[in-house]
Amino acid sequence: MNTYGRVTAEIVEELRAIVGPRYVVVDPQKLEAYAHDETPKSRYGHMPEVAALPSTTEEVSAIVKLASRERLPVTPRGAGSGLSGGAIPVLGGIVVSLERMNRILEVDRENLVVVLEPGVITNQVNEEVARHGLFFAGYPMSVETCFIGGNVAENAGGGRAVKYGVTARYVLGLEVVTPTGEVLSFGGKRVKDVTGYDVKQLFIGSEGTLGIVTKVILRLLPLPAHTCTLLVLFPDPATAIAVVPAIMSEGRMVPTSLEFMDRLSFDTACRYLNDPLDYGQAGAMLLIEADGAEREQVDREAERMGEICLAHGATEVYVADNYTTRERVWSIRRNIAEAFIVDAPLRGIEDFVVPIAAIPSLVEEVARISAARGILMPSYGHAGDGNLHVTLVKPAALSPQEWYEQEDAALDELYAVLRRLGGTISGEHGIGSKRRKWLRSFVGDGEYELMRRIKGLLDPAGIMNPGKMFD
Ligand code: LAC
Ligand code: ZN
Repeated sequence: MNTYGRVTAEIVEELRAIVGPRYVVVDPQKLEAYAHDETPKSRYGHMPEVAALPSTTEEVSAIVKLASRERLPVTPRGAGSGLSGGAIPVLGGIVVSLERMNRILEVDRENLVVVLEPGVITNQVNEEVARHGLFFAGYPMSVETCFIGGNVAENAGGGRAVKYGVTARYVLGLEVVTPTGEVLSFGGKRVKDVTGYDVKQLFIGSEGTLGIVTKVILRLLPLPAHTCTLLVLFPDPATAIAVVPAIMSEGRMVPTSLEFMDRLSFDTACRYLNDPLDYGQAGAMLLIEADGAEREQVDREAERMGEICLAHGATEVYVADNYTTRERVWSIRRNIAEAFIVDAPLRGIEDFVVPIAAIPSLVEEVARISAARGILMPSYGHAGDGNLHVTLVKPAALSPQEWYEQEDAALDELYAVLRRLGGTISGEHGIGSKRRKWLRSFVGDGEYELMRRIKGLLDPAGIMNPGKMFD
């Protein structure tokens, strides 16, 4: 059992000396901004004792050394757009917010890389590199607000992973402040590198439990010259989801995006955005995108994907053939989670993932459990990756406490389904504090203990993002 120190007035003074008095937050009203992420605040939120906003790697290191000396919990924080409680200081202590480390340090066109501080907003990376004809493939749905450091810490997935893979594939180099305050660099601008263990990968997706990312070198691709986006309507979720594996196996095509939305998800986002998009009687839809260098080839691929959809029961295929309509359907897709949060603040947003061929069975089982338990479970997600965001909506009649019990019981049943289908509890949102009680049972004792030993080796004092990942 770890016991932690308290943040005293002297420690606040020391933090002020490190980052400057303006960048230490102690006022409870302002600290509140650092007490939650996108998980329900009343269940998962927790106030820090203090927040420090460093502007350099040296300052991050000095804060961590101070925390290590005083045994204070340190919680690294990006934009707070996470969905597993990763950036929440569940044991109090110091939040280290990377919001001021937001510079794009270099766009290196010859080497196809960009060098970034962790607080750069993901969308800004693409806006910047697009001017050089380049492209960063990461596309989390929070792209307009999330930070690249958070993408690395969570190994973010998103809407293009079906073709391009998740964040880790693009991280060529990292600078990290370890839990003892040491500054380490891994990798570089090299596309290939097998010099010893791939320690860099260990930090990607470690959810801030092994250190604080202070610099990121990302691999870029040539900007695809053409994209073609389809919005395909289906009578019901089962018909829509059955097409997902068919596009890839029968069609032998890997789309850039293959997103699924059921009617309630789509509808909630449309209402939230005040967008009256007419989708008739559709019970579910797929958002499908192809991209590439040649317009003809991209259009041909999209057309074939549309044909497969029609052959499998789609009622309508719309082509979003200009920037405005494409952005319109993507905006609806990106805003589903936020729309549910506004609509039902105590809902649970899940992150199930199964092998892609099992996704029809998953959707069927979710519908069965939803009906049996009388809990609405609208679903949407990156179906092409087998990644489904099932949302558990609290029935109005239940008190929060009753709801948490019912939610956990429903999750136990849903998780049993995941296990049976060869799936797991998180494809991209991470374990954080929210899912830690289930981690051991999904990875097994051997792997769980190995993870704990790695954590203990890097963080002997247990100060770096405590209360996450492990129970
Ligand atoms: C999305 C977030 C919830 O896909 O991951 O919308
Ligand atoms: Zn997602």
